[in-house]
Amino acid sequence: MLQPQSLSPQGPDFSPLIMGYWRLMDWNMTPQQCVSFIETHLSEGITTVDHADIYGDYRCEAAFGEALKLSPGLRDRLQIVTKCGIATRAKPEHHIGHYITDQTHIVQSAENSLRHFATDRLDLLLIHRPDPLMNADEVAEAFLALHQSGKVLHFGVSNFTPSQFTLLQSRLPFTLVTNQVEISPIQQNVILDGTLDQCQQMRLRPMAWSCLGGGELFNDPHYQPLRDELENVRRETGAASLAQVVYAWVLALPSRPLPIIGSGNPARISDAAGALRIQLNRQQWFRIRKAALGYDVP
Ligand SMILES: NC(=O)c1ccc[n+]([C@@H]2O[C@H](COP(=O)([O-])OP(=O)(O)OC[C@H]3O[C@@H](n4cnc5c(N)ncnc54)[C@H](OP(=O)(O)O)[C@@H]3O)[C@@H](O)[C@H]2O)c1
Repeated sequence: MLQPQSLSPQGPDFSPLIMGYWRLMDWNMTPQQCVSFIETHLSEGITTVDHADIYGDYRCEAAFGEALKLSPGLRDRLQIVTKCGIATRAKPEHHIGHYITDQTHIVQSAENSLRHFATDRLDLLLIHRPDPLMNADEVAEAFLALHQSGKVLHFGVSNFTPSQFTLLQSRLPFTLVTNQVEISPIQQNVILDGTLDQCQQMRLRPMAWSCLGGGELFNDPHYQPLRDELENVRRETGAASLAQVVYAWVLALPSRPLPIIGSGNPARISDAAGALRIQLNRQQWFRIRKAALGYDVP
């Protein structure tokens, strides 16, 4: 059973693996089936759930909320993360996909999320993507209002560069607690561009999305050399699956990322939980790095 861990020195306490609900509408669950699915990952100790206002063309939060309404007390056993700041064309009034981080939008989006989840608080609210038109003072005003009213307990960002993070942080009286970023053997940018260095420096832990490349890592013929090396390391470490080796590779990073699981398959979720028992040595870690990138370290 996984135990909660602190995301940053200021909290919150999250499960070391997080359940991502981006693909919820693809899983075609009734609210009752969704309750059972939530209970399944809770039984593994996966208590933190990741959402966004836009997931499932703006429908995921409310679908998840229908499940929460069916099972009183369930919400209090979860930590809810959600995001705002993207406007997609799923809404007819959006003639073009864009970002929107003005104060009114952030506050309204958080309040909509509270309504969808039928809850009085969000554990963590993230700005989903860096907005070229972001006014850091306005975002800070929105965060402060949501914090003071108790509607949002913690704040963070997603897909921010270190300088975008530093800019927003400079306007806040409390610490942003995470940067949620893409990390996998096939997407290693944040490992080298300073993003994870900043997390380590500030002792806050990134949340890692698409650790399995959205499934591509297993399906794309291009990644066969990577799969071959993952299989070698799987045999050496006694891991139960290639996915466990990939999660162990992400978990080995010194910024101590919290991987977000994207699978709707309970067997794969329980398999992912086993990754915390797998330790890679340095050479195994670099062999996977090389197999994914196709070249050695300089
Ligand atoms: N902040 C951001 O910008 C951002 C962006 C993207 C995602 N996210 C968050 O991160 C979460 C995870 O992202 P993700 O869904 O892309 O994660 P992922 O784990 O990389 O991909 C999940 C997909 O891979 C498939 N899969 C898993 N194991 C597999 C295997 N062994 N063989 C073949 N296919 C396999 C799953 O299918 P099955 O369901 O059939 O297992 C699912 O379709 C999302 O739910 C969301 O919460 C955040």
